[in-house]
Amino acid sequence: MCGIVGYVGPGSSLEVLMGGLRRLEYRGYDSAGVAVLDDDGELGVRKRAGKLAVLAGELESDGIRDGHTGIGHTRWATHGGPTDGNAHPHLGDDGRLALIHNGIIENFAELKAELADETFTSETDTEIAALLVGRLYRETGDLTEALRRAVARLEGAFTILAMHRDDPGVVVGARRNSPLVIGLGEGENFLGSDVAAFVAYTKRAMEIGQDQIVTIRPDSVEVTDFAGNPVTPTQFEIAWDASAAEKGGWPSFMKKEVSEEPAAVANTLRGRIHDGRVTLPELDAIAEILDGVTRIIVIACGTAAYAGMLGRYAIEAWSRIPIDVELSHEFRYRDPVLDEHTLVVSVSQSGETMDTLRAVQYAREKGARTLAICNTQGATIPRESDAVLYIHAGPEVAVASTKAFVAQVTALYLLGLDLAARRGTLSPERIAELIVELQNVPDKLDDVLDAASSRIAEFTRWLAETQSVIFLGRHVGYPVALEGALKLKEIAYIHAEGFAAGELKHGPIALIEPGQLVIVLVPSPRNDDSLHPKVVSNIQEIRARGARVIAIAEVGDVAVVPFADEVIRIPFAGPFFEPILGVVPLHIFAMEMASAKGLDVDQPRNLAKSVTVE
Ligand code: AGP
Repeated sequence: MCGIVGYVGPGSSLEVLMGGLRRLEYRGYDSAGVAVLDDDGELGVRKRAGKLAVLAGELESDGIRDGHTGIGHTRWATHGGPTDGNAHPHLGDDGRLALIHNGIIENFAELKAELADETFTSETDTEIAALLVGRLYRETGDLTEALRRAVARLEGAFTILAMHRDDPGVVVGARRNSPLVIGLGEGENFLGSDVAAFVAYTKRAMEIGQDQIVTIRPDSVEVTDFAGNPVTPTQFEIAWDASAAEKGGWPSFMKKEVSEEPAAVANTLRGRIHDGRVTLPELDAIAEILDGVTRIIVIACGTAAYAGMLGRYAIEAWSRIPIDVELSHEFRYRDPVLDEHTLVVSVSQSGETMDTLRAVQYAREKGARTLAICNTQGATIPRESDAVLYIHAGPEVAVASTKAFVAQVTALYLLGLDLAARRGTLSPERIAELIVELQNVPDKLDDVLDAASSRIAEFTRWLAETQSVIFLGRHVGYPVALEGALKLKEIAYIHAEGFAAGELKHGPIALIEPGQLVIVLVPSPRNDDSLHPKVVSNIQEIRARGARVIAIAEVGDVAVVPFADEVIRIPFAGPFFEPILGVVPLHIFAMEMASAKGLDVDQPRNLAKSVTVE
């Protein structure tokens, strides 16, 4: 996944491009580059491997002249390693055309053979596109037409921006299975892989649909499909401002976003509850099938999948609809039984995860109806779905997903309550009670943050050398154990594994040796007295074998105290709401462990915020 910015207007291209790339750097940060057409019609290009700061330094020491037409790119390498030569922009038409690309051109080898007489300077698929568009520009003399003919030859997923020195004030773009949005300014216009690219300049945006081409000039925006037919895109107002996309004084985006977990839940609930009832007009688009749904399949990856696993308990308990949760990249290849009574619910923060996008497209082809739960307006997965339930977590910039997780669970709970009301599987009174519990979650999350943050920061200092951590949870605690393990792996680079606590005696307990750190999600003794004693005995079993135990337990639960080295307290909440509280100490734990090891919590190695390749 890469960051993409385009600009035409009276302003400074370099300022717009570098500012936009800074806000997009989480999308990919192994190299970066810009191309700017200066007032003398010279096309200046600078691109460097490494983080954006390396390019910024280059522009300081050996810069290019500014201008009013430009494109910029931050890369997450797919074809060809992170080198200066492989960085974008790539050139065509003997250096008169610059082009940037996000995605994968699957038939680039075939096209490269056709362009054998061209000179290649990189190992990338993108350079093929630049050379192809350059050749077509020489034939047509029209940049939009050249791009249109080029994309007709491309297979795979791509967002492409291009500019040509003979066309000042013009940037063209095309997208297929990859994100691209338009920023509408006054006498200036923008393109970006998401709205963070230009939100500092305008909150008016338009989404570009599948297989569409856009031509921006300072005073015009033209969108057509790949066949050249005019299209009128949907315009929308960006719901957050540039500061929300900045750290705002926090040491890391992740710390800022963990602090926003209460607001993420509150904002996802906002406007969706009236007089003790859930109101989701977003579901009107699929209302006719909701009453007849016989099966739900949640598809997602990573943290989003764990949110789906957690939502599953409540949705099935409340609506009595059988529900499964599957990893998107597995679902699509197992030939699942789907029909018009199957509701496939995708969960994706970015709305651009290619594995999940492909699974959604597959489900629709097989006749299922699809609902997207997503955090990114104008993203591809919502556009490819029959309906979308946006979570309103605000921009999530850190690669590790935190506030989106609690907001995704909240949205799934709203869906479960809506289905229960439609099917009469819960009384209006019971629904009203559950809604009150859900509405109390944000305040309880504030209490967790207040109580846990400093305590966890303290004791992680003596844990920084830990080589492995086991997470245990039961019932709704199990998905939280998986999520806690993932967070620790992805940002602190510590091997971690989540287990269902009941599974210990079936094998994993063999891993317990003196000093092994185990973190246990302890169910409240007030919620289900059959689970609490079982988990406490699990703790005793591992303590007897020398484990060190950190328990996440309800305020007042004294049963765990004799067997835990540390107890992180969370307020009481009903059985389905307790895990939304219990996950936050695990987010904080992973973040503090990564910080104690001096790691970059926002941009962990080998990862990108959204994986837009399969
Ligand atoms: C979560 O911390 C990870 N960065 C990763 O597992 C992520 O949740 C997964 O790639 C799915 O991303 P999405 O929600 O944007 O689809």
